[in-house]
Amino acid sequence: MRAIRNLNGQAFVYVCNCNAIRERDARHAISCGASTPKAVFTHCQAKAQCAKCVCEIRQLIDEQQQALAIAAE
Ligand code: FES
Repeated sequence: MRAIRNLNGQAFVYVCNCNAIRERDARHAISCGASTPKAVFTHCQAKAQCAKCVCEIRQLIDEQQQALAIAAE
């Protein structure tokens, strides 16, 4: 992941540089039901290009699913 600051100093963390998908966009897609990297791309109206981010997106999916499982206990 790579953090970029805008002119206001706000930091954005990108998980997919090819499609400019921010971590928060990916997390939002996952919370809306995306359970695979392909579903995250689809939710963000993007397509995998170099696919270097797929492992990172898969990791976000796992983290969020584990958090939901713990919250449901
Ligand atoms: S970094 Fe996501 S497709 Fe290239």
